[in-house]
Amino acid sequence: MPKKVCCIGAGYVGGPTMAVIAQKNPDVKVTVVDINEDRIQGWNSEELPVFEPGLLEVVKEARGRNLFFTTAVEATIAEADIIFVSVNTPTKEFGVGKGSAANLMYVEKCARTIARVAQSNKIIVEKSTVPVRTAEFLKQILHAEGSKHQFEIVSNPEFLAEGTAIVDLNNPDRVLIGGDQTSEGKAAVASVSSLYEAWVPKDRILTTNLWSSELSKLTANAFLAQRISSINSISALCERTDADVEEVGRAIGMDSRIGSKFLRSSVGFGGSCFQKDILNLVYLCDFFGLPEVADYWRKVVEMNNYQKRRFVRRIMSAMFNTVSGRNLAIFGFAFKKDTNDTRESPAISVCRDLLDEQAVLRIYDPRVKKAQIYRDLGLDPSIEDPRVQIMSDPYQAVQACDAIAVLTEWDEFAELDYERIFDAMRKPAHIFDGRNLLKPKKLKKIGFSLHSIGKGD
Ligand code: NAD
Ligand code: UGA
Repeated sequence: MPKKVCCIGAGYVGGPTMAVIAQKNPDVKVTVVDINEDRIQGWNSEELPVFEPGLLEVVKEARGRNLFFTTAVEATIAEADIIFVSVNTPTKEFGVGKGSAANLMYVEKCARTIARVAQSNKIIVEKSTVPVRTAEFLKQILHAEGSKHQFEIVSNPEFLAEGTAIVDLNNPDRVLIGGDQTSEGKAAVASVSSLYEAWVPKDRILTTNLWSSELSKLTANAFLAQRISSINSISALCERTDADVEEVGRAIGMDSRIGSKFLRSSVGFGGSCFQKDILNLVYLCDFFGLPEVADYWRKVVEMNNYQKRRFVRRIMSAMFNTVSGRNLAIFGFAFKKDTNDTRESPAISVCRDLLDEQAVLRIYDPRVKKAQIYRDLGLDPSIEDPRVQIMSDPYQAVQACDAIAVLTEWDEFAELDYERIFDAMRKPAHIFDGRNLLKPKKLKKIGFSLHSIGKGD
Protein backbone atom coordinates (compact mmCIF):
# COMPACT_ATOMS: atom_id res chain seq x y z
CA MET A 1 0.00 0.00 0.00
CA PRO A 2 1.48 3.38 -0.95
CA LYS A 3 2.00 5.80 1.94
CA LYS A 4 2.33 9.07 0.10
CA VAL A 5 0.43 10.16 -2.96
CA CYS A 6 1.01 13.37 -4.87
CA CYS A 7 -1.28 14.77 -7.53
CA ILE A 8 0.02 17.43 -9.91
CA GLY A 9 -2.89 19.63 -10.97
CA ALA A 10 -5.61 20.87 -8.60
CA GLY A 11 -8.30 21.25 -11.26
CA TYR A 12 -11.72 19.75 -11.91
CA VAL A 13 -10.23 16.25 -11.91
CA GLY A 14 -7.25 16.42 -9.53
CA GLY A 15 -9.17 18.14 -6.72
CA PRO A 16 -12.30 15.96 -6.48
CA THR A 17 -10.49 12.69 -7.31
CA MET A 18 -7.83 13.15 -4.67
CA ALA A 19 -10.39 14.35 -2.11
CA VAL A 20 -12.26 11.06 -2.50
CA ILE A 21 -9.08 8.93 -2.50
CA ALA A 22 -8.00 10.70 0.71
CA GLN A 23 -11.42 10.33 2.31
CA LYS A 24 -11.47 6.58 1.64
CA ASN A 25 -7.80 5.96 2.55
CA PRO A 26 -7.24 7.81 5.83
CA ASP A 27 -3.80 6.19 6.26
CA VAL A 28 -2.46 7.53 2.97
CA LYS A 29 -1.16 11.09 2.83
CA VAL A 30 -2.56 12.73 -0.30
CA THR A 31 -1.12 16.07 -1.39
CA VAL A 32 -2.44 17.99 -4.35
CA VAL A 33 -0.01 20.50 -5.86
CA ASP A 34 -0.51 23.24 -8.39
CA ILE A 35 1.46 26.20 -9.71
CA ASN A 36 -1.70 28.31 -9.58
CA GLU A 37 -1.63 29.96 -6.14
CA ASP A 38 -5.23 31.21 -6.32
CA ARG A 39 -6.47 27.70 -6.95
CA ILE A 40 -4.52 26.29 -4.04
CA GLN A 41 -5.77 29.06 -1.77
CA GLY A 42 -9.29 28.25 -2.91
CA TRP A 43 -8.86 24.57 -2.07
CA ASN A 44 -7.71 25.58 1.41
CA SER A 45 -10.77 27.80 1.95
CA GLU A 46 -14.54 27.39 2.33
CA GLU A 47 -15.08 28.53 -1.25
CA LEU A 48 -13.55 25.77 -3.35
CA PRO A 49 -12.43 26.73 -6.87
CA VAL A 50 -14.56 23.91 -8.27
CA PHE A 51 -18.28 23.76 -7.61
CA GLU A 52 -19.47 20.17 -7.28
CA PRO A 53 -22.41 18.96 -5.21
CA GLY A 54 -21.08 17.15 -2.11
CA LEU A 55 -17.44 18.09 -2.70
CA LEU A 56 -17.02 20.54 0.17
CA GLU A 57 -18.16 17.92 2.70
CA VAL A 58 -15.60 15.40 1.40
CA VAL A 59 -12.81 17.98 1.39
CA LYS A 60 -13.67 19.12 4.91
CA GLU A 61 -13.57 15.58 6.23
CA ALA A 62 -10.08 14.85 4.90
CA ARG A 63 -8.37 18.25 4.63
CA GLY A 64 -5.71 18.74 7.27
CA ARG A 65 -6.01 15.03 8.25
CA ASN A 66 -4.50 13.30 5.22
CA LEU A 67 -5.45 15.67 2.39
CA PHE A 68 -3.32 18.72 1.65
CA PHE A 69 -3.22 21.40 -1.02
CA THR A 70 0.02 23.24 -1.65
CA THR A 71 2.14 25.04 -4.22
CA ALA A 72 5.25 23.18 -2.97
CA VAL A 73 5.39 21.10 -6.14
CA GLU A 74 8.95 19.80 -6.01
CA ALA A 75 9.09 18.92 -2.31
CA THR A 76 5.83 16.99 -2.58
CA ILE A 77 6.96 15.11 -5.68
CA ALA A 78 10.26 14.26 -3.99
CA GLU A 79 8.61 12.41 -1.11
CA ALA A 80 5.72 10.70 -2.96
CA ASP A 81 5.46 7.00 -3.85
CA ILE A 82 2.76 7.55 -6.46
CA ILE A 83 2.41 10.71 -8.55
CA PHE A 84 -0.82 11.35 -10.40
CA VAL A 85 -0.39 13.73 -13.31
CA SER A 86 -3.70 15.54 -13.67
CA VAL A 87 -2.72 18.64 -15.57
CA ASN A 88 -4.53 20.14 -18.53
CA THR A 89 -4.01 18.63 -21.99
CA PRO A 90 -5.69 21.22 -24.21
CA THR A 91 -5.90 21.25 -27.98
CA LYS A 92 -2.68 22.51 -29.54
CA GLU A 93 -3.01 26.07 -30.81
CA PHE A 94 0.18 26.24 -32.85
CA GLY A 95 2.49 24.29 -35.13
CA VAL A 96 2.03 20.69 -36.19
CA GLY A 97 -1.41 19.42 -35.22
CA LYS A 98 -2.70 22.92 -34.51
CA GLY A 99 -6.41 22.79 -33.76
CA SER A 100 -6.56 19.05 -33.20
CA ALA A 101 -3.56 17.38 -31.50
CA ALA A 102 -3.29 17.44 -27.71
CA ASN A 103 -0.76 19.86 -26.31
CA LEU A 104 1.36 17.71 -24.01
CA MET A 105 3.67 20.49 -22.82
CA TYR A 106 2.24 20.49 -19.29
CA VAL A 107 2.52 16.72 -19.04
CA GLU A 108 6.07 16.85 -20.35
CA LYS A 109 6.97 19.52 -17.82
CA CYS A 110 5.70 17.30 -15.01
CA ALA A 111 7.79 14.38 -16.26
CA ARG A 112 10.94 16.49 -16.37
CA THR A 113 10.32 17.86 -12.88
CA ILE A 114 9.69 14.37 -11.50
CA ALA A 115 12.90 13.03 -13.05
CA ARG A 116 14.86 15.99 -11.71
CA VAL A 117 13.65 16.01 -8.11
CA ALA A 118 12.94 12.30 -7.46
CA GLN A 119 14.86 10.81 -4.53
CA SER A 120 13.33 7.36 -4.83
CA ASN A 121 11.58 5.13 -7.38
CA LYS A 122 8.18 6.46 -8.44
CA ILE A 123 4.96 5.26 -9.96
CA ILE A 124 3.73 7.93 -12.35
CA VAL A 125 0.04 7.81 -13.15
CA GLU A 126 -1.43 9.37 -16.28
CA LYS A 127 -4.67 10.78 -14.90
CA SER A 128 -4.90 13.45 -17.58
CA THR A 129 -6.51 12.37 -20.84
CA VAL A 130 -3.64 11.77 -23.25
CA PRO A 131 -3.11 10.43 -26.77
CA VAL A 132 -2.48 6.73 -27.13
CA ARG A 133 1.28 6.01 -26.75
CA THR A 134 1.90 8.97 -24.46
CA ALA A 135 3.47 6.64 -21.91
CA GLU A 136 6.18 5.90 -24.48
CA PHE A 137 6.84 9.61 -24.85
CA LEU A 138 7.00 9.98 -21.06
CA LYS A 139 9.46 7.11 -20.73
CA GLN A 140 11.73 8.81 -23.24
CA ILE A 141 11.60 12.10 -21.37
CA LEU A 142 12.23 10.47 -18.00
CA HIS A 143 15.12 8.47 -19.43
CA ALA A 144 16.59 11.56 -21.11
CA GLU A 145 16.74 13.39 -17.79
CA GLY A 146 19.23 10.76 -16.59
CA SER A 147 17.76 10.03 -13.16
CA LYS A 148 19.17 7.02 -11.30
CA HIS A 149 15.71 6.06 -10.06
CA GLN A 150 13.14 3.72 -11.61
CA PHE A 151 9.85 5.09 -12.97
CA GLU A 152 6.82 2.94 -13.74
CA ILE A 153 4.13 4.54 -15.85
CA VAL A 154 0.53 3.61 -15.26
CA SER A 155 -2.51 4.86 -17.16
CA ASN A 156 -5.57 5.52 -15.01
CA PRO A 157 -7.92 7.74 -16.99
CA GLU A 158 -10.74 9.50 -15.23
CA PHE A 159 -14.37 9.02 -16.28
CA LEU A 160 -16.13 11.38 -13.87
CA ALA A 161 -18.54 13.92 -15.30
CA GLU A 162 -18.72 17.43 -13.91
CA GLY A 163 -21.72 18.18 -11.76
CA THR A 164 -21.84 14.54 -10.62
CA ALA A 165 -18.15 14.10 -9.80
CA ILE A 166 -18.64 12.89 -6.24
CA VAL A 167 -21.40 10.43 -7.13
CA ASP A 168 -19.31 9.16 -10.07
CA LEU A 169 -16.18 8.80 -7.94
CA ASN A 170 -18.05 7.05 -5.13
CA ASN A 171 -19.72 4.62 -7.46
CA PRO A 172 -17.76 4.32 -10.70
CA ASP A 173 -18.96 2.04 -13.51
CA ARG A 174 -15.35 0.94 -13.68
CA VAL A 175 -11.86 2.06 -12.73
CA LEU A 176 -9.44 1.48 -15.56
CA ILE A 177 -5.76 0.87 -14.87
CA GLY A 178 -3.30 0.12 -17.63
CA GLY A 179 0.31 -0.83 -17.15
CA ASP A 180 3.30 -2.62 -18.59
CA GLN A 181 3.00 -6.39 -18.64
CA THR A 182 6.32 -6.79 -16.76
CA SER A 183 6.52 -7.77 -13.08
CA GLU A 184 7.37 -4.15 -12.16
CA GLY A 185 4.48 -2.91 -14.31
CA LYS A 186 2.07 -5.34 -12.68
CA ALA A 187 3.25 -4.31 -9.22
CA ALA A 188 2.69 -0.65 -10.09
CA VAL A 189 -0.84 -1.40 -11.33
CA ALA A 190 -1.54 -3.34 -8.12
CA SER A 191 -0.29 -0.43 -6.04
CA VAL A 192 -2.58 2.09 -7.79
CA SER A 193 -5.42 -0.42 -7.62
CA SER A 194 -5.00 -0.75 -3.84
CA LEU A 195 -6.02 2.91 -3.42
CA TYR A 196 -9.34 2.25 -5.18
CA GLU A 197 -9.95 -1.09 -3.48
CA ALA A 198 -10.71 0.90 -0.32
CA TRP A 199 -14.19 1.43 -1.77
CA VAL A 200 -14.53 0.10 -5.32
CA PRO A 201 -15.47 -3.61 -5.68
CA LYS A 202 -12.62 -5.51 -7.27
CA ASP A 203 -14.69 -6.69 -10.23
CA ARG A 204 -15.11 -3.07 -11.27
CA ILE A 205 -11.37 -2.45 -11.38
CA LEU A 206 -10.30 -3.30 -14.88
CA THR A 207 -6.64 -3.79 -15.74
CA THR A 208 -5.31 -3.65 -19.29
CA ASN A 209 -2.11 -2.89 -21.12
CA LEU A 210 -1.02 0.76 -21.26
CA TRP A 211 -2.14 1.47 -24.80
CA SER A 212 -5.61 -0.01 -24.41
CA SER A 213 -6.15 2.09 -21.32
CA GLU A 214 -5.00 5.32 -22.98
CA LEU A 215 -7.11 4.65 -26.07
CA SER A 216 -10.19 3.59 -24.09
CA LYS A 217 -10.48 7.04 -22.57
CA LEU A 218 -10.51 8.82 -25.93
CA THR A 219 -12.88 6.19 -27.30
CA ALA A 220 -15.32 6.50 -24.41
CA ASN A 221 -15.58 10.26 -24.87
CA ALA A 222 -15.88 9.91 -28.63
CA PHE A 223 -18.74 7.39 -28.28
CA LEU A 224 -20.55 9.56 -25.72
CA ALA A 225 -20.27 12.68 -27.87
CA GLN A 226 -21.27 10.70 -30.94
CA ARG A 227 -24.57 9.73 -29.29
CA ILE A 228 -25.36 13.39 -28.65
CA SER A 229 -24.47 14.38 -32.21
CA SER A 230 -26.56 11.48 -33.51
CA ILE A 231 -29.68 12.49 -31.60
CA ASN A 232 -29.05 16.16 -32.41
CA SER A 233 -28.90 15.33 -36.12
CA ILE A 234 -32.30 13.65 -35.75
CA SER A 235 -33.62 16.72 -33.90
CA ALA A 236 -33.14 18.77 -37.07
CA LEU A 237 -35.22 16.26 -39.01
CA CYS A 238 -37.88 16.24 -36.28
CA GLU A 239 -38.27 19.99 -36.54
CA ARG A 240 -39.05 19.61 -40.26
CA THR A 241 -41.41 16.67 -39.94
CA ASP A 242 -43.36 17.17 -36.69
CA ALA A 243 -41.78 14.11 -35.15
CA ASP A 244 -40.75 14.78 -31.54
CA VAL A 245 -37.12 14.04 -30.70
CA GLU A 246 -37.97 13.14 -27.10
CA GLU A 247 -40.47 10.55 -28.30
CA VAL A 248 -37.96 9.21 -30.80
CA GLY A 249 -35.26 9.12 -28.09
CA ARG A 250 -37.56 7.22 -25.74
CA ALA A 251 -38.57 4.78 -28.45
CA ILE A 252 -35.04 3.91 -29.51
CA GLY A 253 -33.65 4.05 -25.95
CA MET A 254 -35.96 1.21 -24.87
CA ASP A 255 -34.02 -1.05 -27.20
CA SER A 256 -31.60 -2.55 -24.72
CA ARG A 257 -28.93 -2.68 -27.43
CA ILE A 258 -29.11 1.10 -27.76
CA GLY A 259 -29.85 2.06 -24.14
CA SER A 260 -31.58 5.18 -22.87
CA LYS A 261 -28.73 7.31 -21.52
CA PHE A 262 -27.10 10.21 -23.33
CA LEU A 263 -29.91 10.65 -25.81
CA ARG A 264 -31.01 14.10 -24.67
CA SER A 265 -31.08 16.40 -27.64
CA SER A 266 -29.72 19.85 -26.84
CA VAL A 267 -28.29 23.08 -28.16
CA GLY A 268 -25.04 21.11 -28.43
CA PHE A 269 -22.53 19.46 -26.16
CA GLY A 270 -19.94 21.52 -24.38
CA GLY A 271 -17.32 20.96 -21.71
CA SER A 272 -13.58 20.96 -21.82
CA CYS A 273 -13.19 17.43 -23.10
CA PHE A 274 -15.56 16.05 -25.73
CA GLN A 275 -14.44 18.30 -28.56
CA LYS A 276 -10.80 18.29 -27.48
CA ASP A 277 -10.66 14.51 -27.18
CA ILE A 278 -12.40 13.80 -30.48
CA LEU A 279 -10.12 16.24 -32.28
CA ASN A 280 -7.21 14.46 -30.68
CA LEU A 281 -8.56 11.12 -31.93
CA VAL A 282 -8.96 12.65 -35.39
CA TYR A 283 -5.35 13.82 -35.28
CA LEU A 284 -4.12 10.38 -34.21
CA CYS A 285 -6.05 8.66 -37.02
CA ASP A 286 -4.54 11.05 -39.56
CA PHE A 287 -1.11 10.58 -38.00
CA PHE A 288 -1.36 6.80 -38.27
CA GLY A 289 -2.50 7.07 -41.91
CA LEU A 290 -6.23 6.43 -41.40
CA PRO A 291 -7.93 9.43 -43.05
CA GLU A 292 -11.33 7.69 -43.44
CA VAL A 293 -11.44 6.98 -39.71
CA ALA A 294 -10.40 10.57 -38.99
CA ASP A 295 -13.22 11.91 -41.20
CA TYR A 296 -15.74 9.68 -39.49
CA TRP A 297 -15.01 11.15 -36.04
CA ARG A 298 -14.55 14.70 -37.31
CA LYS A 299 -18.22 14.66 -38.31
CA VAL A 300 -19.24 14.37 -34.64
CA VAL A 301 -17.71 17.78 -33.92
CA GLU A 302 -19.05 19.26 -37.15
CA MET A 303 -22.57 18.15 -36.27
CA ASN A 304 -22.19 19.78 -32.86
CA ASN A 305 -21.12 23.08 -34.41
CA TYR A 306 -24.05 22.83 -36.81
CA GLN A 307 -26.45 22.31 -33.89
CA LYS A 308 -25.20 25.46 -32.10
CA ARG A 309 -25.47 27.54 -35.27
CA ARG A 310 -28.87 26.07 -36.07
CA PHE A 311 -30.17 27.15 -32.66
CA VAL A 312 -29.27 30.77 -33.38
CA ARG A 313 -30.73 30.56 -36.87
CA ARG A 314 -33.99 29.38 -35.35
CA ILE A 315 -34.04 32.36 -32.99
CA MET A 316 -33.36 34.68 -35.89
CA SER A 317 -36.02 33.18 -38.09
CA ALA A 318 -38.70 33.22 -35.34
CA MET A 319 -37.87 36.86 -34.63
CA PHE A 320 -38.01 37.91 -38.29
CA ASN A 321 -34.22 38.19 -38.54
CA THR A 322 -34.15 41.22 -36.29
CA VAL A 323 -32.74 41.02 -32.80
CA SER A 324 -30.75 44.21 -33.18
CA GLY A 325 -31.23 46.34 -30.07
CA ARG A 326 -33.72 43.84 -28.63
CA ASN A 327 -33.32 42.34 -25.17
CA LEU A 328 -32.77 38.61 -24.92
CA ALA A 329 -32.62 36.84 -21.56
CA ILE A 330 -30.07 34.05 -21.43
CA PHE A 331 -30.87 31.38 -18.85
CA GLY A 332 -27.67 29.53 -18.03
CA PHE A 333 -24.09 29.92 -19.17
CA ALA A 334 -22.36 26.82 -17.72
CA PHE A 335 -21.87 23.93 -20.14
CA LYS A 336 -24.24 21.80 -18.06
CA LYS A 337 -26.08 22.10 -14.77
CA ASP A 338 -24.46 21.82 -11.33
CA THR A 339 -21.10 23.17 -12.40
CA ASN A 340 -19.50 26.60 -12.65
CA ASP A 341 -17.44 25.42 -15.63
CA THR A 342 -18.01 27.26 -18.91
CA ARG A 343 -15.29 25.67 -21.02
CA GLU A 344 -16.62 25.13 -24.57
CA SER A 345 -20.11 25.88 -23.27
CA PRO A 346 -22.59 26.13 -26.16
CA ALA A 347 -23.72 29.37 -24.47
CA ILE A 348 -20.47 31.00 -25.57
CA SER A 349 -20.98 30.53 -29.29
CA VAL A 350 -24.73 31.18 -29.11
CA CYS A 351 -24.16 34.47 -27.21
CA ARG A 352 -21.35 35.52 -29.55
CA ASP A 353 -23.57 34.93 -32.59
CA LEU A 354 -26.41 36.90 -30.98
CA LEU A 355 -24.04 39.75 -30.17
CA ASP A 356 -22.96 39.76 -33.81
CA GLU A 357 -26.64 40.31 -34.57
CA GLN A 358 -26.49 43.28 -32.15
CA ALA A 359 -28.82 41.78 -29.55
CA VAL A 360 -28.66 43.00 -25.94
CA LEU A 361 -28.08 40.01 -23.66
CA ARG A 362 -29.29 39.79 -20.07
CA ILE A 363 -27.50 36.73 -18.76
CA TYR A 364 -28.37 34.81 -15.61
CA ASP A 365 -26.50 31.75 -14.34
CA PRO A 366 -26.70 30.66 -10.71
CA ARG A 367 -23.01 29.66 -10.51
CA VAL A 368 -20.97 31.39 -13.17
CA LYS A 369 -19.39 34.69 -12.18
CA LYS A 370 -19.62 37.84 -14.25
CA ALA A 371 -15.88 38.07 -14.94
CA GLN A 372 -15.90 34.56 -16.40
CA ILE A 373 -18.81 35.35 -18.74
CA TYR A 374 -17.15 38.56 -19.88
CA ARG A 375 -13.87 36.79 -20.59
CA ASP A 376 -15.65 34.01 -22.48
CA LEU A 377 -17.34 36.60 -24.67
CA GLY A 378 -14.03 38.34 -25.36
CA LEU A 379 -14.86 41.35 -23.17
CA ASP A 380 -12.85 43.11 -20.49
CA PRO A 381 -14.47 42.30 -17.11
CA SER A 382 -13.43 45.69 -15.70
CA ILE A 383 -15.39 47.63 -18.33
CA GLU A 384 -19.18 47.49 -18.23
CA ASP A 385 -20.59 46.61 -21.67
CA PRO A 386 -24.24 47.67 -22.09
CA ARG A 387 -24.77 44.81 -24.56
CA VAL A 388 -23.96 42.17 -21.95
CA GLN A 389 -25.75 42.59 -18.65
CA ILE A 390 -25.14 40.00 -15.98
CA MET A 391 -28.15 39.54 -13.76
CA SER A 392 -28.35 38.04 -10.29
CA ASP A 393 -31.97 36.98 -10.60
CA PRO A 394 -33.93 35.40 -13.50
CA TYR A 395 -36.98 37.63 -12.92
CA GLN A 396 -34.81 40.70 -13.24
CA ALA A 397 -33.21 39.24 -16.38
CA VAL A 398 -36.49 38.93 -18.26
CA GLN A 399 -37.71 42.52 -17.71
CA ALA A 400 -38.67 44.01 -21.08
CA CYS A 401 -37.15 41.07 -22.95
CA ASP A 402 -38.47 39.78 -26.26
CA ALA A 403 -37.14 36.29 -25.79
CA ILE A 404 -35.55 33.84 -23.37
CA ALA A 405 -32.97 31.30 -24.48
CA VAL A 406 -32.48 28.39 -22.06
CA LEU A 407 -28.89 27.27 -22.57
CA THR A 408 -28.18 25.28 -19.39
CA GLU A 409 -30.57 22.78 -17.82
CA TRP A 410 -30.39 24.17 -14.24
CA ASP A 411 -33.30 22.62 -12.27
CA GLU A 412 -34.38 26.03 -11.00
CA PHE A 413 -35.34 27.14 -14.52
CA ALA A 414 -38.10 24.52 -14.56
CA GLU A 415 -39.47 25.81 -11.26
CA LEU A 416 -39.84 29.50 -12.13
CA ASP A 417 -43.16 31.35 -12.14
CA TYR A 418 -43.65 31.66 -15.90
CA GLU A 419 -46.87 33.65 -15.57
CA ARG A 420 -44.91 36.33 -13.75
CA ILE A 421 -42.18 36.08 -16.39
CA PHE A 422 -44.70 36.38 -19.22
CA ASP A 423 -46.13 39.56 -17.67
CA ALA A 424 -42.65 41.10 -17.44
CA MET A 425 -41.77 40.42 -21.09
CA ARG A 426 -42.56 42.22 -24.32
CA LYS A 427 -45.00 40.47 -26.63
CA PRO A 428 -44.83 38.26 -28.54
CA ALA A 429 -42.82 36.51 -25.81
CA HIS A 430 -40.56 33.80 -27.18
CA ILE A 431 -38.81 31.00 -25.33
CA PHE A 432 -36.11 29.02 -27.10
CA ASP A 433 -35.59 25.98 -24.93
CA GLY A 434 -32.15 24.67 -25.84
CA ARG A 435 -32.42 21.89 -23.26
CA ASN A 436 -36.05 20.74 -23.57
CA LEU A 437 -36.37 21.50 -19.90
CA LEU A 438 -39.65 23.39 -19.80
CA LYS A 439 -43.20 22.10 -20.04
CA PRO A 440 -44.52 23.00 -23.49
CA LYS A 441 -48.27 22.71 -22.79
CA LYS A 442 -48.16 24.95 -19.72
CA LEU A 443 -46.06 27.63 -21.40
CA LYS A 444 -48.10 27.69 -24.57
CA LYS A 445 -51.25 28.04 -22.45
CA ILE A 446 -49.75 31.09 -20.74
CA GLY A 447 -49.21 32.62 -24.17
CA PHE A 448 -45.52 32.02 -24.88
CA SER A 449 -44.29 31.22 -28.33
CA LEU A 450 -42.20 28.17 -27.40
CA HIS A 451 -39.48 26.69 -29.59
CA SER A 452 -38.06 23.41 -28.29
CA ILE A 453 -35.22 21.37 -29.73
CA GLY A 454 -36.42 18.67 -32.09
CA LYS A 455 -40.08 19.67 -31.98
CA GLY A 456 -42.04 21.61 -34.55
CA ASP A 457 -43.09 25.16 -33.58
P1 NAD B 1 -7.86 22.03 -15.13
O1 NAD B 1 -7.39 23.00 -16.13
O2 NAD B 1 -9.08 22.32 -14.32
O3 NAD B 1 -6.69 21.72 -14.10
C1 NAD B 1 -5.37 21.49 -14.45
C2 NAD B 1 -4.47 22.13 -13.41
O4 NAD B 1 -3.13 21.73 -13.65
C3 NAD B 1 -4.47 23.66 -13.42
O5 NAD B 1 -4.91 24.16 -12.17
C4 NAD B 1 -3.01 24.03 -13.72
O6 NAD B 1 -2.57 25.18 -13.05
C5 NAD B 1 -2.28 22.80 -13.24
N1 NAD B 1 -0.95 22.63 -13.82
C6 NAD B 1 -0.58 22.67 -15.13
N2 NAD B 1 0.74 22.46 -15.25
C7 NAD B 1 1.23 22.28 -14.00
C8 NAD B 1 2.52 22.00 -13.49
N3 NAD B 1 3.58 21.86 -14.29
N4 NAD B 1 2.67 21.89 -12.15
C9 NAD B 1 1.61 22.03 -11.33
N5 NAD B 1 0.36 22.28 -11.76
C10 NAD B 1 0.17 22.40 -13.09
O7 NAD B 1 -8.07 20.66 -15.92
P2 NAD B 1 -9.07 19.46 -15.56
O8 NAD B 1 -10.44 19.75 -16.05
O9 NAD B 1 -8.88 19.05 -14.15
O10 NAD B 1 -8.49 18.34 -16.53
C11 NAD B 1 -7.24 17.73 -16.28
C12 NAD B 1 -7.09 16.52 -17.20
O11 NAD B 1 -8.13 15.57 -16.91
C13 NAD B 1 -7.24 16.84 -18.69
O12 NAD B 1 -6.37 16.02 -19.40
C14 NAD B 1 -8.68 16.45 -18.99
O13 NAD B 1 -8.84 16.06 -20.33
C15 NAD B 1 -8.88 15.27 -18.09
N6 NAD B 1 -10.27 15.03 -17.67
C16 NAD B 1 -11.07 16.07 -17.32
C17 NAD B 1 -12.37 15.82 -16.88
C18 NAD B 1 -13.28 16.93 -16.45
O14 NAD B 1 -14.43 16.65 -16.14
N7 NAD B 1 -12.85 18.18 -16.39
C19 NAD B 1 -12.81 14.50 -16.76
C20 NAD B 1 -11.96 13.46 -17.12
C21 NAD B 1 -10.68 13.73 -17.57
C1 UGA C 1 -17.76 13.91 -20.00
C2 UGA C 1 -17.98 12.41 -19.81
O1 UGA C 1 -19.36 12.16 -19.52
C3 UGA C 1 -17.11 11.88 -18.69
O2 UGA C 1 -17.25 10.47 -18.59
C4 UGA C 1 -15.66 12.24 -18.97
O3 UGA C 1 -14.85 11.82 -17.90
C5 UGA C 1 -15.54 13.75 -19.15
O4 UGA C 1 -16.39 14.18 -20.22
C6 UGA C 1 -14.15 14.18 -19.52
O5 UGA C 1 -13.38 13.40 -20.01
O6 UGA C 1 -13.95 15.36 -19.34
P1 UGA C 1 -18.63 16.11 -18.80
O7 UGA C 1 -18.14 16.78 -20.02
O8 UGA C 1 -18.20 16.63 -17.49
O9 UGA C 1 -18.22 14.56 -18.82
O10 UGA C 1 -20.22 16.12 -18.79
P2 UGA C 1 -21.32 15.29 -19.62
O11 UGA C 1 -22.41 14.93 -18.69
O12 UGA C 1 -20.75 14.20 -20.39
O13 UGA C 1 -21.89 16.40 -20.61
C7 UGA C 1 -21.12 16.91 -21.67
C8 UGA C 1 -21.97 17.80 -22.53
O14 UGA C 1 -22.95 17.04 -23.25
C9 UGA C 1 -22.77 18.84 -21.75
O15 UGA C 1 -22.79 20.05 -22.44
C10 UGA C 1 -24.15 18.23 -21.68
O16 UGA C 1 -25.16 19.19 -21.50
C11 UGA C 1 -24.24 17.56 -23.04
N1 UGA C 1 -25.21 16.44 -23.09
C12 UGA C 1 -25.04 15.35 -22.31
C13 UGA C 1 -26.26 16.50 -23.99
O17 UGA C 1 -26.42 17.50 -24.72
N2 UGA C 1 -27.14 15.45 -24.06
C14 UGA C 1 -27.00 14.34 -23.28
O18 UGA C 1 -27.84 13.41 -23.41
C15 UGA C 1 -25.92 14.30 -22.39
